[in-house]
Parts: sequence; structure tokens; C-alpha cells
Amino acid sequence: MTSGVTSVAAHPADSLVSFVAPASLEADQYRSLRHLVERLHRDAGLQVFAVTSPGSGEGKTVTTLNLAGSLAQSRDARVLVIDADLHRPAVAEYLGIEHPHSPGLIDLIVNDQLGLEHAERRLDALNLSVVLTGVYETGAYELLNSRRLETLLQDARRRYDYVLIDTPPLMPLPDCRLIGRYIEGFFLVVAAHRTPRKALAEALNLLEPAKLIGTVFNGDDRPLTRYSTYYGHPQPGPDGRRSDQVAWWRRAFTDRRHRSSAPVSR
Ligand SMILES: Nc1ncnc2c1ncn2[C@@H]1O[C@H](COP(=O)(O)OP(=O)(O)OP(=O)(O)O)[C@@H](O)[C@H]1O
Ligand SMILES: [Mg+2]
Repeated sequence: MTSGVTSVAAHPADSLVSFVAPASLEADQYRSLRHLVERLHRDAGLQVFAVTSPGSGEGKTVTTLNLAGSLAQSRDARVLVIDADLHRPAVAEYLGIEHPHSPGLIDLIVNDQLGLEHAERRLDALNLSVVLTGVYETGAYELLNSRRLETLLQDARRRYDYVLIDTPPLMPLPDCRLIGRYIEGFFLVVAAHRTPRKALAEALNLLEPAKLIGTVFNGDDRPLTRYSTYYGHPQPGPDGRRSDQVAWWRRAFTDRRHRSSAPVSR
């Protein structure tokens, strides 16, 4: 892609169905999300999206990477994933790539002599590029509060069609609100049986309504998949149980939309 960018091999985890099982039913769930992102890109020029969730372990990284994999299935799409979870970076591990001592997002922020190309790794077999976090010690707030992040994302916009940012949980960290200033929108992951309604309500309060692009319902009990994702309001399943599972979520989301003065783009 770009001269100077390092090419590396990848061994994606089984949960990254968009890469390892693109023909599966699970991968199809991410195609719906891909379709939405492609439409937002085509119709509104949106390019930079972050994935977050109220708490930890709710599926942010799996969602980010599966959405990236789905977008990357179009061979002419230029897709970049940035690992901005400085506290618990996981993108390298999920993708199974080696990353000893190489520059990452942190290095790009602290050293303005480095360009994006110094931290990009190209995963040719996956049609994907990634920027890992680099070595983090302390000071996430200062790093993410830097205007340098804005400059880097502008550069990424020029070089890629889609930039997906993996982030830490919305609560209690301020990181997403800092990142949110420079991106077009968030996907909020809600984990079935896991995300408490109160946490979801608080998370929705923390996000600028106009920047909430969609909600991904992760990990319901479809018969063929342990996990699946939905964009927007899932329709009740024939067994009725799924509608119970999502009813609280739908209410919380609807309440939020009614309370918001700015429209939620969907
Ligand atoms: N859709 C999915 N399919 C398969 N496994 C999943 C899925 N979503 C989440 N998991 C599993 O749940 C666990 C947490 O997922 P993940 O690492 O994506 O969460 P996270 O929100 O990024 O966590 P953290 O807050 O630590 O960053 C992992 O073991 C992951 O493999
Ligand atoms: Mg994660």
C-alpha cells in the first residue's frame, strides 16, 4: 500500500469470524454492520468510527475487528484499525501478530517527527492495516488529550476509506470522550446477559447523542451461534425470549432518543 509500511503475518483468533469464517452465519451479522458503515461513508462521507461499551469485556475488540474484517472483504477497501485502548490493548493478540518494540499510537502522539507510516503494519492476507498502541506506562489522559491525535486521524482519513478505533470502556475512563472529539461516530456494544441496564443508561448519557451511530447487541442466544451482533433494534425472535432480552435495551435506547435534543443518526 504505502512505501515504508511494515508487512506482518497474522493468525486471527477464532472469534474473528469475518476473517476465519467469512461464509458463516456469524460473519453475516457483521455484514449488516458493514453495510451501514459503507452507506454512511458513501452518503455522508463518514470515515472514522470508534467502538466502545459501558464496561469491560463486553466485546468491543471482537466487534471492532470483525467489522474491520467485513469491510476488508471488499478488496479495494482501504481499512485501518487503531488500537486506542491504552490500558488493555488486545488488537495484536486477537490478530495474532508479533509486535516487539515497534512504534504505535503512543509513539506517534509523543513524537511528532514520526508519521502514521512509521506505526502502520500491513496485514496483506487480511487486506487490513493496523496501528497498535505502543508501550504505555502512564498518562492516557494527556496522550489522548493531545491535538496530535487529531492530526494523525486527519492523515488516516486521507490514506484510508475506513478507520476503526478500538477503545476502552466508557466508564469510568475519560478516554472515549477525548477520542470522540475527532471521530465521526461511536458504535456502542451492549453485551447480552451482561451489560446492566443502569450502566447502559449511564453510557448513553456520556456519549454525545449526534455521535452515537448505532448499538451492537453482542452475545445473544441464537441457536447456531454463541455470539451474534445486531445493528439497531433487533426484531423479536419467534421464541419470544429474545424480545424479552432486548426489551430493556430497547426501552433504554428509546428513552435516550426522546431525551436527546440532537437527533441520533441511524
Ligand atoms: N461476538 C463474539 N464472538 C465470540 N467471542 C466473543 C464475542 N464477543 C466477545 N467475545 C469474547 O468475550 C471476551 C471479551 O471480548 P472482547 O475482548 O472483545 O471485549 P472488550 O470489550 O474488548 O474487553 P476489554 O474491556 O477488556 O477491552 C473475549 O474472550 C472474546 O473472545
Ligand atoms: Mg478490548
